[in-house]
Amino acid sequence: MGARINPSILAADFVNLERDVASIASADFVHVDVMDNHFVPNLTFGLQMVGRLQDVSPRPLDVHLMITDVDRWAPDYAKTGAASVTFHSEATEHPVELARTLRSLGARAGIALKPGTAAEPLLDLLHEFDQVLIMTVEPGFGGQSFMVSTMPKLAQVREAITRAGTDVWLQVDGGVDLTTIEIARDAGADTFVAGSAVFRGSDPAEQIAALRAAADGHRH
Ligand code: DX5
Ligand code: ZN
Repeated sequence: MGARINPSILAADFVNLERDVASIASADFVHVDVMDNHFVPNLTFGLQMVGRLQDVSPRPLDVHLMITDVDRWAPDYAKTGAASVTFHSEATEHPVELARTLRSLGARAGIALKPGTAAEPLLDLLHEFDQVLIMTVEPGFGGQSFMVSTMPKLAQVREAITRAGTDVWLQVDGGVDLTTIEIARDAGADTFVAGSAVFRGSDPAEQIAALRAAADGHRH
């Protein structure tokens, strides 16, 4: 299995989302950033929009919840039919219970860590999740710079996944471009979210192909 490339539609044109998701049909998943203006100081869209996107998207949805009250709301995103629902570990006291609920609803269960959040409490629980998202910027906005300082944590999680022998996808999100994708890959990431790098140019499909080639390149 090669690298997964999940473009973030945070960098797309919100009034032309159907056109823009059609332009990234060569991606693995469509990354959907849900922000509530409480967990992060920015606001995007909610359940109704995610449900409609599901109808028109050529690829399954990888929903990234940057919201509070995930125990209350995350299951509803799984019920829209989203293939993957990732909540922040900082937003719940009951990550394992929530992950089990998401899985029982047919979604892949993901857990995200902000740059300042330690991975240790998670390392013995990896089998409860389908994806761990290591944020490589402070969540909230696209177009920020990749934080290399998060790479030791990424490598630590990769090592624990290998040790546990479970098939947990290891995702990075924030500031991923043709250069930083190789840094993240070398530290152990296999799933890459990119917003600006995909939509900033004139041809998203070309950007996806270039990112995929970079991520699938040989380790240094
Ligand atoms: C940031 C979001 C990211 C964002 C990435 O809070 O979670 O998914 O869209 O955007 P870029 O790739 O521009 O850093
Ligand atoms: Zn995201």
